[in-house]
Amino acid sequence: MTQRIRPLVIGNWKMHLTASEAAAYVRSLLPRLGSPIDREVALAPPFTALAAVAALLKGSDIQLAAQDLFWEDEGPYTGEISGVMLQDAGVTYVLVGHSERRWHMEETDRVAGLKTRAALRSGLKPVLCVGEDEAERASGRAEKVVRAQVALGLQGTPPGEASRLQIAYEPVWAVGTGKAAGAAQAAEMHAVIRRELHAMFKNAATGVRILYGGSVTSHNIDELIGAPGVDGVLVGGASLKAEEFARIAAFPPRLER
Ligand code: PGA
Repeated sequence: MTQRIRPLVIGNWKMHLTASEAAAYVRSLLPRLGSPIDREVALAPPFTALAAVAALLKGSDIQLAAQDLFWEDEGPYTGEISGVMLQDAGVTYVLVGHSERRWHMEETDRVAGLKTRAALRSGLKPVLCVGEDEAERASGRAEKVVRAQVALGLQGTPPGEASRLQIAYEPVWAVGTGKAAGAAQAAEMHAVIRRELHAMFKNAATGVRILYGGSVTSHNIDELIGAPGVDGVLVGGASLKAEEFARIAAFPPRLER
């Protein structure tokens, strides 16, 4: 029996909640969560609510996450936010290459790679999001697409940094659709990702957490978190209500697998 990695639950608020709404949310969430010791919980508010959320999370076990970063540390990049700035704002985790950014902002695997390296350089823990779309799955290319996203998104990462990486497997057809992957589907792709990580990082790959994301709710969390190889979840829509997110984060303990 091997030791299970401490699971990680991240709430990705996307472009929702003003700073004052975020503060009310955190005030309502904290007492519901208590102090989870066998799992890590993080919140990813929009940039404008980071400071308000950081202030309220101080002294709690809940981590702050950001939804994106730019790949340079500073400079003439109007509108962008760097890893250095996020680190300074109290951020621990940062999403990279989310499918909504790949789609709406046309972010490529190359951009995801630049951002992953920038996050590591700034002392942040990147969460590289990968996942096939419906057509790619239908045509049998899901595995190939996801392996390439992992390989390109992590290209140039030294094995010594691998323990700071997380991957979020988020099939595009499951994000925001209410149609989550089944436990078997998730387990299958998590195994593919794990093999790719081993090919890249050898033994150091064992410490990389692979989260599942895409229509996670309090109804399917137990099944998904119980699937082999699922080391946590990235929750979008269902994380916007404090009660629902607290229910999701309260999945039954699983310390070993
Ligand atoms: P969803 O989004 O839970 O609303 O499907 C997940 C995500 O985008 O991270």
